[in-house]
Amino acid sequence: MAAPFGGRGAYMNLFDVYPLFDIAIDKGQGCKVWDENGQEYLDLYGGHAVISVGHAHPHYVEAISKQVAKLGFYSNSVQNPLQKELAQRLGKACGYEDYQLFLINSGAEANENAMKLASFYNGRTRILSAEKAFHGRTSLAVEATANPKIIAPINANGHVTYLPLNDLPAWKTEIEKGDVCAVIIECIQGVGGIRMVNAQFLQGLRALCNEHNIVLICDEIQCGYGRSGKFFAHQHLGVMPDMITVAKGICNGFPMGGVLISPKFTPIYGQLGTTFGGNHLGCAGALAVLDIIESEKLVENAATVGKYLIDTLTAEMKAGNLPHVVDVRGQGLMIGIELDIPYKEPRTRLIKEQHCFTGCSGTNVIRLLPPLCLSMADAEDFIVRFKKVL
Ligand SMILES: Cc1ncc(COP(=O)(O)O)c(C=O)c1O
Repeated sequence: MAAPFGGRGAYMNLFDVYPLFDIAIDKGQGCKVWDENGQEYLDLYGGHAVISVGHAHPHYVEAISKQVAKLGFYSNSVQNPLQKELAQRLGKACGYEDYQLFLINSGAEANENAMKLASFYNGRTRILSAEKAFHGRTSLAVEATANPKIIAPINANGHVTYLPLNDLPAWKTEIEKGDVCAVIIECIQGVGGIRMVNAQFLQGLRALCNEHNIVLICDEIQCGYGRSGKFFAHQHLGVMPDMITVAKGICNGFPMGGVLISPKFTPIYGQLGTTFGGNHLGCAGALAVLDIIESEKLVENAATVGKYLIDTLTAEMKAGNLPHVVDVRGQGLMIGIELDIPYKEPRTRLIKEQHCFTGCSGTNVIRLLPPLCLSMADAEDFIVRFKKVL
């Protein structure tokens, strides 16, 4: 068939960067999704930790629908009361009422702006990041990501030193060189395979940052917004960061990111900015997400159901009932199941035979990142399905 408009005889293809499962998800409800043939799946993946309050939650759908019918977008050159309301509500929900909120559209953008603001603040250019860290794919965010395969030559600017997680002496040695601008850290590494920061390390890092005027940034894009069983994962560790970056669950799938900024930073007109960030539609969705997190006690639910999953999987592993499982780790509904074989076959069988989505990490870790409304029955159901593929 000839191409329309007299083109070169071809239709535009997608730029093929994703290895895809041959499944198209057509609708969702709570912790379930359905493909275009009507097959139901249990969703222990949440579209990569994005679905916080569940698919197609009626309150969220209503809030977004009403807002888009009224005003989807207007620019950041006029007052947007929804942004102010979101800042106040978020501050109250997470216990950082005296912090300031800057809104953007994605996780990478949140980290990019946090590191940029840190550099404006202390005038320095060096970042410390953890081995296996993932902070996004834009310029400085990807440089802070410890994966040379995704850092293009143009992003390899020598700003970042990667250090072993929880090895305080190694970080101290670098910090004492006196030129570090910021430390960026995920308190539970996601892409890195559910590796957890310990309290002693983070508290030591906080003290060193204070001593050397270094900005401590906690990347809570995956582990935050209730997923760990507290609003933020660092709140398990007794430390307050200077900046906290959020995205994924903040708007249940509508693209949005945020930087929570300590009062010690003074905003300067024009220093940061965005066209779409904090738009009316996103704010309405994010406010609905907070309503649901509060009314359905989803942070508490993540703690309870997550503990049940971790405890049960650990007990089953120790009893020898989970062949190939060598470790179960995590907090709340952010769980890693490490296998002594590649995850590929069991994960694929989980999807194809058991109709259950999970995430993965590295070569051997199955990652559970379900919506925060996962019920105890869904958790039990997952364990039954998981056993069948081992
Ligand atoms: C911890 C962490 N930081 C940053 C990002 C980047 O977020 P985005 O893909 O929205 O840019 C991700 C995404 O997976 C993440 O897990």
